[in-house]
Amino acid sequence: MPFKAFCRGFAAKAFEDIPTTASRSWPILGHIPALLHPQLGNKGISKQVAKIRAEEIDPEIDLLRLNIPMLNTENDGRVVYVFRPEDAEVIYRNEGRYPFRGDTIKMLKVLRRRRPDIFGGTLGVLLEEGERWKAVRSAVQQDLMRPKSALYYLDDLQDVADDFVQHVRRKTNPETRINEGDLLKDLHMWGFESVSLAALDTRMGLLKANPDEEAQRLIKCSALIIENFPDLIFRSPLWNLLPNMWHSTFRLCEEQFQLAIDLMTAKLRVIEDKIRSKTEMTKEDETEVVDFPVLQKLIMKHPDSPIPTVMALDMVFAGIDTTGNSAGFLLHNLATNPDKQELLREEMNSFGNESPLTPQDVGKMKYFRACFKESQRHTPTVEAAVRILPQEVVIRGYTIPKGTLVFIPWNILSHDPKNFVRPDLYSPERWLNKNSKNSIHPFASLQFGHGPRKCIGQRFAELEILILTYKLLRNFRVEWAGSIRDTPLPTETALTNRPIRPLKFMFTDL
Ligand code: HEM
Repeated sequence: MPFKAFCRGFAAKAFEDIPTTASRSWPILGHIPALLHPQLGNKGISKQVAKIRAEEIDPEIDLLRLNIPMLNTENDGRVVYVFRPEDAEVIYRNEGRYPFRGDTIKMLKVLRRRRPDIFGGTLGVLLEEGERWKAVRSAVQQDLMRPKSALYYLDDLQDVADDFVQHVRRKTNPETRINEGDLLKDLHMWGFESVSLAALDTRMGLLKANPDEEAQRLIKCSALIIENFPDLIFRSPLWNLLPNMWHSTFRLCEEQFQLAIDLMTAKLRVIEDKIRSKTEMTKEDETEVVDFPVLQKLIMKHPDSPIPTVMALDMVFAGIDTTGNSAGFLLHNLATNPDKQELLREEMNSFGNESPLTPQDVGKMKYFRACFKESQRHTPTVEAAVRILPQEVVIRGYTIPKGTLVFIPWNILSHDPKNFVRPDLYSPERWLNKNSKNSIHPFASLQFGHGPRKCIGQRFAELEILILTYKLLRNFRVEWAGSIRDTPLPTETALTNRPIRPLKFMFTDL
């Protein structure tokens, strides 16, 4: 052991000294029984963690140790929550060359391994580990993350958002002006429709008066898998022990997964063939590929590889409920803070009158950026950042061994008055005012993650949501029509955080 690590280890307290719950840690289940929320069950685990910290141990503790075997199978279920942004920074700084999220989305990995015809070459950027992850991430990163790649879709995203405005008009009761059903479902359709532009180089037809049936089936598959996600991860550790085909939730998810994969790959094959026949590139030209759709660029650069198909599937999986829920939370925050909505509308009204938005207009929407960042802080869609530590670190004097699964729970960090002044207020201004902005720790709210494994679709997601908000606010005054009990909005966690009750807004034409 290096001398420095030896001295540090010598001084540091043991991992077992980190505060933990007094509840029993069961064989196989670990602390899961204590973590099930009385009403929300396994969709309220993070709320239970907050409760254990605040009520059972000490609201000021910086670290919480838990045993959750199914989340860290290879390291005896060792899990730690860190509650301070300074410690989140230490985790990110020690995440290593190949950051790893561990078994948190293991179920998807298992499903993918059972389709070697598609995923035999790679499990994709979302799920690969180590050098294999690095190879696939490097292959796609530039084409997805550069600002120009998202802006390529500026006009198409405006068309999708225009269709969403029409869709809202159709689904709004003319007398009450309130949307029928749950707007979140419509926002997922918008998310799918938007991400398909990049992932599948096509429109899905979900926002038409008569939506495409296949696209509807696909979105149902995705909703079903997400709905059952916590069950497979938390409530059914037997799934880890028994053969997969014995497990009914697993079987249901697998059915939906197979259906979705077959529908999507069939679509992709047609699209890819079309693109291939259109595209004749010489090897030298490949580095100059800039102004093409993302899927086309991937096909041109990796003509005989599974990467374009698997990346398209990753984008669709990662880009529907993240974007839809974030847009829903933002709308709710703007509807319940009409003064902020008005300020944002003023900003938006100064651009693009009578003509589509330009990349320059997008670059100037500073108040929108503050509104969105604040919405992500106030009502996070991503419950927590997750990392398996590739090396031992010492935090707050405690040794955290290599292989520990660390959670950084954003909701707790971003509602801690130590990190944000009056955290329960929705105040976009805190991100604009130089003094207040400077006082915010840079690791206190990171909804897209950080470092080499951060979200690859961030620019695309931000642009999608900007354009949607622009179109909605220029067409409607948006008021909250749900219950007064719903501010702040009660949420639960499936794959991501989402509102518990239907999103209901009153849309008044401007
Ligand atoms: C508001 C919407 C979104 C949020 C909040 C979000 C958030 C995140 C977060 C937190 C991660 C994990 C980062 C980490 O571990 O450090 C992630 C990963 C990822 N996201 Fe997003 N995301 C959003 C939209 C999208 C969209 C639209 C796409 C596709 C175009 C996308 C594609 C991905 C992919 C492929 C990964 C895996 C990256 C990797 O493991 O290397 N995301 N996202």
